[in-house]
Amino acid sequence: MQIVTLIPGDGIGPEITDSVVKILKAADAQIEWDIQTAGADVAEVEGTALPQRVIDSIKKNKIALKAPVTTPIGKGFRSVNVALRKELDLYANLRPCKNIEGIKTRFDNVDLVIVRENTEDLYAGIERQIDDDTAESIKIITRKASERIAKFAFDYAVKNKRKTVTAVTKANICKLTDGLFLNCAREVAQNYPEIKYNEVLVDNLCMQLVQNPEKYDVLVLPNLYGDIVSDLCAGLIGGLGIAKGANIGIDTAVFEPVHGSAPDIKGQNKANPTALLLSAIDLLKYINQNQVAKKIENALYKTLKDGKILTYDLGGNALCSEFTNEIINNI
Ligand code: NAI
Repeated sequence: MQIVTLIPGDGIGPEITDSVVKILKAADAQIEWDIQTAGADVAEVEGTALPQRVIDSIKKNKIALKAPVTTPIGKGFRSVNVALRKELDLYANLRPCKNIEGIKTRFDNVDLVIVRENTEDLYAGIERQIDDDTAESIKIITRKASERIAKFAFDYAVKNKRKTVTAVTKANICKLTDGLFLNCAREVAQNYPEIKYNEVLVDNLCMQLVQNPEKYDVLVLPNLYGDIVSDLCAGLIGGLGIAKGANIGIDTAVFEPVHGSAPDIKGQNKANPTALLLSAIDLLKYINQNQVAKKIENALYKTLKDGKILTYDLGGNALCSEFTNEIINNI
């Protein structure tokens, strides 16, 4: 039995968490959940949105499944997600993005992987108000973080038989910061002669992605561009409801979907649990429960391919609970 920290999050988090826990149980996953709440409601009771007990639990178990947590926009507490990634040094945000059979999109040949630097850039949160009309934010890029994320991207490419790594920056404008990131990627690339190395500016990449996404394989990006391009890529394969992800550190990993807490559909039992479920399937593979992972994957893909019981975001009208039951029936 593997102990895994479970953060149900807020917004649609608890609904999709409930779905995923039920599906993993039905597939007989050998997991004991260490449930740790975090987020806005917790902040009211415990004075912080990310209590130390959550961090301690992940440090102890070294693995977590996390549903989204709301971050107040333009005010309030610091993002739980950013703090968690920084606190646990989960330096790589891995977001594979591939078409799924049965989910209609404009493209049918998307198969790319986003490797997003997860600890610095504008997400360092160093901002100050200079006067009423001026505010500034500091973008931090270091050699250490840039080299290790580039190395992660190339190692991933080798291990997963990928052909090309493309470094994405705006180094024509941010000459020092993105320039440093790019130089590190170039240097690291030299150690991987078997992998093709490319570079592209982030604005050009966005245009290329919505026209010819099949041109891209592994993308390595600083934090902010990685965040934005991830959502764009989720759109290429059918939306945020199916985009999975993982935050990976040296010996710790937190699996979580790309999407946020979707307050607009909270409590309506209509959220798509697929992104969290796909993240949980990758977690199962990470802890070598491959057979259970495969069993769930097959049931999920069958449900999506059948196309009879789908959530609203995929063009269906099934509730989250109905979609969940259909996957369980297919296991
Ligand atoms: P969002 O990803 O929560 O929602 C964007 C749109 O996608 C909404 O219309 C939503 O209903 C839809 N959507 C998202 N997930 C869905 C699902 N599973 N099934 C069906 N539809 C889904 O982004 P938004 O609205 O910008 O952010 C809401 C909150 O989430 C913010 O507080 C933000 O900071 C937080 N957030 C948290 C993340 C995390 O915990 N890792 C990541 C991104 C945002």
